[in-house]
Amino acid sequence: MVILGIETSCDETSVAVLLEEKVSVNLISSQYFHELYGGVVPELSSRAHLQTLIPLIKKALQKTSISINDVDIIAATAGPGLIGALLVGLNVAKGISYSSGKVFIPVNHIEGHIFSGFLMEEKPSFPFLCLVVSGGHTLLLLVEDELRIKRLGVTIDDSAGEAFDKTAKMLGLGYPGGPKIQYYAGMGNRTKINFPVARLNDKYNFSFSGLKTSVLRYLQKNYADSEIPKSDIADIAAAFQEAVIKALTANVRKALTDYKVESISMVGGVAANVSLREKMQSIANQHKIKLIIPANEYCGDNAAMIACRALQLYKRGIKYSLNYNAFPALSEKVFIH
Ligand code: KG4
Ligand code: ZN
Repeated sequence: MVILGIETSCDETSVAVLLEEKVSVNLISSQYFHELYGGVVPELSSRAHLQTLIPLIKKALQKTSISINDVDIIAATAGPGLIGALLVGLNVAKGISYSSGKVFIPVNHIEGHIFSGFLMEEKPSFPFLCLVVSGGHTLLLLVEDELRIKRLGVTIDDSAGEAFDKTAKMLGLGYPGGPKIQYYAGMGNRTKINFPVARLNDKYNFSFSGLKTSVLRYLQKNYADSEIPKSDIADIAAAFQEAVIKALTANVRKALTDYKVESISMVGGVAANVSLREKMQSIANQHKIKLIIPANEYCGDNAAMIACRALQLYKRGIKYSLNYNAFPALSEKVFIH
């Protein structure tokens, strides 16, 4: 079984080939030029995908030493994401499928992240708790099996990734903010400033906009007319990162007392954060359960997770028509196939 996966939901063009359930190649071309604008510019993203995607598909096939005729399934991200960007990948996949008669499988990007732990040697076992911390989404889920995903909690405002990106912007660190905050936090004192962690009535929901505002107030109060010294940036980044980790792990701890699971998986771009990984590992150790976090190349947006999810759906016998449309936002029904 050969699967060609395509991912173009945001600012990464990615193409992967899965050969007999193993990743043979996972090429990722990141659109770094968005840094110039302090965030992703949707129209520029679509244009870059248009230019990059076909050459990347050719390169992926070449690296695997196969031709398009050897491919059995063409999978592409259908949503959620930037609509223009999604349309590029989805329509290329549809075109290849239409002209070659190969099976077409549209994939929900968040489902791609949720099951990205299955790309690892050690895989999650069902049922597992899944903490999705991507640029656009923060979700806590109970994954009962490949088709039953129960939503326990969701962010009521910003996602964790957005909080990293917006805080980095306020500190003048540029985009994407996560890795930059992590770098400065490594040199700072996380206990010097105490940023608040939102407490919500809904058991597993998250909120990060208050944290973002308190960073802003702190900066306005202390550095209204002056530049922020590097050592202070480090302390602010460390205290901010600590507050995000506390907010995320508090809900994970609650869910672990309410649900009996043997594994937990943390996925999405923010799952690359080293301090968050360490904290999650210590929680998993305390509960004597296994923690599966994908390797860094599978945490951020990548086509290997799209191909992997497509294979699961194919094995379940789910069929899709070429009329399947791209969708920009995650809705209640998108987890239902
Ligand atoms: O999953 P992803 O690649 O894109 C979406 O599907 O949205 O996640 C991107 C997010 C960005 O907000 C980025 O700042 C964050 O992941 N990120 C990190 C780290 N690396 C990437 N956040 C914290 N620490 C990191 N090391
Ligand atoms: Zn993503």
